[in-house]
Amino acid sequence: MNDESVDESAFRRACGNFPTGIAVITTLDDDARPVGLTASSFTSAALSPPMVLWTIGPHARSFDSFSRASHYAVHVLHKEQQALAAHFAGCGEDKFARLDWQTGAQGLPILPDFSVCMECAVEDVHPCGNQKLMIGRVINIISRNREDALVYFHSEFHYLDRS
Ligand SMILES: Cc1cc2nc3c(=O)[nH]c(=O)nc-3n(C[C@H](O)[C@H](O)[C@H](O)COP(=O)(O)O)c2cc1C
Repeated sequence: MNDESVDESAFRRACGNFPTGIAVITTLDDDARPVGLTASSFTSAALSPPMVLWTIGPHARSFDSFSRASHYAVHVLHKEQQALAAHFAGCGEDKFARLDWQTGAQGLPILPDFSVCMECAVEDVHPCGNQKLMIGRVINIISRNREDALVYFHSEFHYLDRS
């Protein structure tokens, strides 16, 4: 099968076979207001130095903020956070209004609950089809040592729990 025969929905269905974790990624906009979105594209990219990558699509209202950001915070979600994932995948006006978020050491918005939070410095931003590929260097890790994870598989949320 060559790429000309692969339509978008077939590709989407094919990718649905690959289970991923779920992250909420946050940064500040030009007016220093917190912005954030749910992302399943997040993955580790290199161990030394510690690098991560994810992609952001053009329809995200936070696209320009993330494109210009120097830092962002990746919150990996645990199994009880499906509602939070849906919240940050939505288009509510102020997604942070009812959340007890804090400002982290890098000035980033840090959510109250997560499995692990990685504060990242932007290393590179590349065009990638209709998306932007965001490459970050992990500069701080806050771990809650959980044994469970929220998972996305075949367009649905699931969870893993090894406790
Ligand atoms: C399970 C799931 C995974 C998603 N993964 C991504 C992703 O990796 N990159 C992306 O740009 N949008 C992703 N989205 C869509 C964004 O979360 C959604 O467009 C969001 O409204 C963007 O927020 P904003 O408009 O406030 O920037 C995902 C949505 C869901 C439900």
